[in-house]
Amino acid sequence: MVATLILLVMAICVMTSPSILSFQQDQPRVLLLSFDGFRWDYIYKVPTPNFHYIMKNGVRVKQVTNVFITKTYPNHYTMVTGLYAESHGIVANEMYDPVLNKTFSLNNMNIYNSKFWEEACPIWVTNQMEGHRTGAAMWPGTDVKIHGVFPTHYLFYNESVSFEDRVAKLIDWFISEEPINFGLLYWEQPDAMGHVLGPENPLMGAVISEIDGKLGYLVSELKKAKLWDTLNIIITSDHGMAQSSSERLIELDQYVARELYTMVDHSPVVAILPKEGKLDEVYEALVNAHPNMTVYKKEEIPSRLHYRYNSKIQPILAMADEGWEILQNKSDQLSLGNHGYDNILPEMHPIFLAYGPAFRKNTTKEAMSLTDLYPLLCHLLGISPLPNNGSFSNVEDLLLREVPRDPHPKFYEQESYAYFIGVFLGSTLVVVFLLVFTKHLTHRQLPSMQVQHTEISQPLLQG
Ligand SMILES: *[C@@H]1O[C@H](CO)[C@@H](O)[C@H](O)[C@H]1NC(C)=O
Ligand SMILES: *[C@@H]1O[C@H](CO)[C@@H](O)[C@H](O)[C@H]1NC(C)=O
Ligand SMILES: *[C@@H]1O[C@H](CO)[C@@H](O)[C@H](O)[C@H]1NC(C)=O
Ligand SMILES: *[C@@H]1O[C@H](CO)[C@@H](O)[C@H](O)[C@H]1NC(C)=O
Ligand SMILES: *[C@@H]1O[C@H](CO)[C@@H](O)[C@H](O)[C@H]1NC(C)=O
Ligand SMILES: *[C@@H]1O[C@H](CO)[C@@H](O)[C@H](O)[C@H]1NC(C)=O
Ligand SMILES: [Zn+2]
Repeated sequence: MVATLILLVMAICVMTSPSILSFQQDQPRVLLLSFDGFRWDYIYKVPTPNFHYIMKNGVRVKQVTNVFITKTYPNHYTMVTGLYAESHGIVANEMYDPVLNKTFSLNNMNIYNSKFWEEACPIWVTNQMEGHRTGAAMWPGTDVKIHGVFPTHYLFYNESVSFEDRVAKLIDWFISEEPINFGLLYWEQPDAMGHVLGPENPLMGAVISEIDGKLGYLVSELKKAKLWDTLNIIITSDHGMAQSSSERLIELDQYVARELYTMVDHSPVVAILPKEGKLDEVYEALVNAHPNMTVYKKEEIPSRLHYRYNSKIQPILAMADEGWEILQNKSDQLSLGNHGYDNILPEMHPIFLAYGPAFRKNTTKEAMSLTDLYPLLCHLLGISPLPNNGSFSNVEDLLLREVPRDPHPKFYEQESYAYFIGVFLGSTLVVVFLLVFTKHLTHRQLPSMQVQHTEISQPLLQG
């Protein structure tokens, strides 16, 4: 049986070697870059020559509808799964899972509990199942073992590692002898400064300029490494940012006693877990409490938000109007910028640019959903998407039309001698293989091959 398999593999290799060779030459390479909290219109606040350089030579989508809630972890997981938060299971940055009786919080190591992530199967797992390699520099979730797998290369999350060091790692992985075909790069700005200053603060201009410089640095390093002409790069973000104010506070303590509930997730969309038997009391106290706060029981959350069918979504959700904050009282920390609000609001929408051999040039598209990014990435990488809430046909017009294949490629003419030897050897091996295989069939050895195959693909099916 082993001899049979070796023969089969050899036969396949010989038969397909011309296409394998050309596949390696133009192996599709993709880099996905997220600047956390980069609102769609920041590129018009101050001169951003590097962002505009990408736009002129690539594509831009103006309004990208991200997923509710418009927070960091839910949207980063949407980008790599194509699923709404209710379906991928990372429903907030702060979560409580009543089934596991476990909490997920960014201030805690408990985000490394795989169980929180395994309702979905992220793209790097699929990429690696299909025989490719992935490299991840600080992308949320890439240092967590998911369905038993880490990215081929990844860095443990450490916000102190500079952008330049993250870029250097990714380039090493792209040009190594066993290169990655897919890189993920995450940077914490302008989100962090956006919270501190507020997006309307003139000082945000300097923050955006600095990020434009980082993008310029990345482009120049990719050019130096001779990757620029062959790489498809997508530059996007998880959400935008809205201006808050101490004039727009809603204090829950004025309406309901703290003892009646647990605040699982915080402003501006507050997840409320009432104490045993207190659901109606808490709901009634809050539902008409403030004109700028909408309160839903879980089953009433509007279906357009796709935020209902998950055990980690709490029984009551209190949602502030844009620019408003929901605190327990004024002692709670207030930031001058925030996000998380309704994903219909333009202020919550992220930037979206792409450049590379697959993309059209100097092209603007009006709208897409962030869920459409996943089928686009799968198409670029040549891998099969898992079931998702996006649609490739929504974003196909960002791509150049594929050049029809030449029925008589030059390659075969130049290499015809080697090619025919290959075909001859391959055919011989296939004939030998078929003979041996037929013999083995009569010994009923085939089922053991099928069993192996099922085991390998099982983790994917669970996702
Ligand atoms: C949930 O876990 C906490 C400790 O984290 C424990 O005190 C509590 O009893 C657990 N609840 C249930 C229902 O198991
Ligand atoms: C995080 O990165 C910084 C800068 O590279 C380094 O000095 C520090 O030791 C790292 N921390 C951990 C926990 O690895
Ligand atoms: C806050 O509520 C008032 C009164 O209902 C309304 O006029 C206003 O538009 C609301 N603010 C926002 C940002 O929706
Ligand atoms: C807010 O509530 C906490 C806890 O009850 C209390 O210690 C604090 O004094 C309150 N702050 C204000 C400004 O009322
Ligand atoms: C890009 O497109 C705009 C409008 O569609 C056009 O005015 C401009 O000349 C184009 N620029 C380049 C470099 O092709
Ligand atoms: C999103 O996709 C998942 C996986 O296919 C599916 O189970 C779910 O019903 C979809 N959600 C919506 C709103 O279509
Ligand atoms: Zn974010």
